[in-house]
Amino acid sequence: MSFLDNLDWRNAQKNFDPAKKVSAEDLAKILHAIRMAPSSWGAQPYHIYVIGDQATKLKLKERGYNQQQYEDSSHTLVFCGRNDLADRVNKYFELASGGDAEKRKAMDSYEKMMRGSLESKNPEDGMNWAYHQTYIALGFGLAACAELKIDSCPMEGFDPTGFDQILNLPANIKSVATLSIGYRKDVANMPKIRFPDKDLFTKI
Ligand SMILES: Cc1cc2nc3c(=O)[nH]c(=O)nc-3n(C[C@H](O)[C@H](O)[C@H](O)COP(=O)(O)O)c2cc1C
Repeated sequence: MSFLDNLDWRNAQKNFDPAKKVSAEDLAKILHAIRMAPSSWGAQPYHIYVIGDQATKLKLKERGYNQQQYEDSSHTLVFCGRNDLADRVNKYFELASGGDAEKRKAMDSYEKMMRGSLESKNPEDGMNWAYHQTYIALGFGLAACAELKIDSCPMEGFDPTGFDQILNLPANIKSVATLSIGYRKDVANMPKIRFPDKDLFTKI
């Protein structure tokens, strides 16, 4: 099976079986898919908290409009944007050059362009831009779950300030979306409602 085969199978799961846990091996595959997501400039301006601790999950539920998925899923991934972009650029080129000054020099024009683009953003614009990138990573996580036939539910229905407090986030990192993962209970799914192709696509 593959992601494309599983598109009709996957859904935004509301009813997780609390007794069924995602294995460490599968969790690692999902996190790898998220890590491999593309991002503008390759800056990866996000951080993902992986919550398996039940006490923390219950706190998230409280600030997540009591959505049961926070309690019953195996893990909840909290996707956060980050707007410490100047530091991100530095770290990116340190990593890309492996600390080699010559290699870094060879990337100088790319570094200048990236700095020009990212460092010109004010903190609010920077965070909004980071959020866009973060959603792509979320999509990769969703796709990986479908590929592995692991249920998931993406959620924005939570109080981000509350989540930031629960996770004790630094000022440069803010929660924006979550992905609860696990295994469904044997209950009927909501029907799939999708607009027809002609509503969504224009072929020219
Ligand atoms: C960014 C995002 C936020 C969402 N927030 C919630 C949420 O807070 N609670 C929930 O039950 N579902 C949430 N959903 C799930 C959508 O309602 C669901 O994906 C949509 O109705 C389509 O259904 P399907 O995913 O089962 O095909 C969210 C989905 C996305 C992509």
